[in-house]
Amino acid sequence: MKTMRKNIHLLKDNTQLKALYTMIRDKETKRDDFVFFSERIIRLLVEYALSLLPVVPKTVKTPAGATYKGVVFKGGVCAVSVVRAGEAMEKVVRDVCPNIRLGKILIQRDEHTAEPKLFYAKLPQDISKRYVLLIDPMMATGGSLCMAIDTLKKHGVKDDKIIFINLITCPQGINKVAKRFPKVHIVTGAIDKTLNSKAFIMPGLGDFGDRYFGTN
Ligand code: PRP
Ligand code: URA
Repeated sequence: MKTMRKNIHLLKDNTQLKALYTMIRDKETKRDDFVFFSERIIRLLVEYALSLLPVVPKTVKTPAGATYKGVVFKGGVCAVSVVRAGEAMEKVVRDVCPNIRLGKILIQRDEHTAEPKLFYAKLPQDISKRYVLLIDPMMATGGSLCMAIDTLKKHGVKDDKIIFINLITCPQGINKVAKRFPKVHIVTGAIDKTLNSKAFIMPGLGDFGDRYFGTN
């Protein structure tokens, strides 16, 4: 993992990660493989994001009769998905953190203007006391993410307790979000070159939600 600017964490590039991204970026990849390989990347991202949560010391005895000075998570975390595409990341989050409370924020980009619109939010009641794993696979202009962060803040969540987990972003999105919310953590696997005229990430992978849910 490379921490670029403060609070921006990029998965360490290696041939294995590149092979996983090659599968999901390839337009010939069928839906079941798209789901399988994107979930493998999501697992890496979620495991890293958990390393940003606070821990307390815990010493255990090993079966070999030794003591091991370790740590345990303090708790107080929840997840929030940006519907629809963010729902694709829920399974992995629940596999890694069984019983985690899971909120939803429905934000959709206008197909013509790429402006985000907020339709609905349902969040855990005590969210202001929790760290929030905010999940959405694509961050392009950053408009949807800013709207999701604004929604969390209105519910009392502090910026530095938000950890955004994302598969692909680009400089335009990162710069916009980092300027407005420098304390929010961004964990991503790829920072692509740019956006095209329709505000799609280039090279990107197309529409993540359509490919994952089979609506393309
Ligand atoms: C996608 C994606 C993000 C947003 C990113 O969702 O999942 O939420 O676009 O774009 P932005 O950074 O320019 O705001 P979209 O609104 O296309 O809906 P979907 O989840 O149904 O695919
Ligand atoms: N949403 C996507 O699914 N892909 C993009 O490239 C941009 C927004």
